Amino acid sequence: MPSREQCLKALDTYKGAVLEAAHSLGLSRHQFRRILKNLNMKTSNGFSYEKWRNRGTTQIEINKGLVIRAPDNFDLFKSSDWHAGSESCYYQGLKEMVDAIHDDKRARGIFGGDQMEITPPGRHDGGRNSDSFIDGQLIRTGKALEPIKEKIDLIYGGNHGKPRLTSVGIDPDLLLASSLGVAYSPVPTVVRYVMPSGILKVCGGHGKNASQDSLRELRRLREIYPNCDIYHLGHDHSLFAEPDGAMEYDENGDEFWSPAWMCRTGSFLRYGDYARYGLMRPKPTGYLIAHIRKAKVASIEVVKV
Ligand SMILES: [Fe+2]
Ligand SMILES: [Fe+2]
Repeated sequence: MPSREQCLKALDTYKGAVLEAAHSLGLSRHQFRRILKNLNMKTSNGFSYEKWRNRGTTQIEINKGLVIRAPDNFDLFKSSDWHAGSESCYYQGLKEMVDAIHDDKRARGIFGGDQMEITPPGRHDGGRNSDSFIDGQLIRTGKALEPIKEKIDLIYGGNHGKPRLTSVGIDPDLLLASSLGVAYSPVPTVVRYVMPSGILKVCGGHGKNASQDSLRELRRLREIYPNCDIYHLGHDHSLFAEPDGAMEYDENGDEFWSPAWMCRTGSFLRYGDYARYGLMRPKPTGYLIAHIRKAKVASIEVVKV
């Protein structure tokens, strides 16, 4: 049986994640929990919700995921492609989502890129135009998110700003995330929510190819980052959450269904000229809410606004 010090060291190494700590000691989670109980050590209760959040002006390191302690029940808002600053941005819908996050005591948020349009006004760009200058778009979007910044777990970089700003060394989504003190990732990554009763892995990114089948790109994401509970991408402005999964077998050979949700996180961009010109189908504006209950995905709500 591991000593108290060994248990503490394992918990410390894995930032409080009981499952990983247990495995490092060659134990199942249940065995480890029983030992901790016998040693009168607290696990989940011993760590505050915010303690392990990777915050600050944090560009999370590529090849590192994000570990966030969370309660067993929370609502995870997933949204992308607001294109704030575009003449076609549906600001009222964006405001409704921000208000919903603000009013929901157990809300968390992951935003999936293209938060701003990043086209200067007067410069039509394939049918796109902006209602404000780029610095104004950044400042205005940051201000809109200020009331909910403590609830935002991660912001992804999108393709807007590429190459206009990134070619001169400025990443608008990094500036937005940093101004809010929120973790940022320019590439897909996995957010691991460590809850008292389990672990939930949420794999996301912005997305790359808008012309291909929406599900196909999600499946590619799942091939690279397997065994996550939720996969989400933005970019193609589709809005859906489909239950998927795979049959798996436990150590006793018993089969069980391992669910995985495949999501595209919509947009707040109305039917822009560029989309009409390109004969792209109009898509509803909105966002997703994953309702996490008892440390599992109970449902994912598609909110059309
Ligand atoms: Fe977009
Ligand atoms: Fe995009």
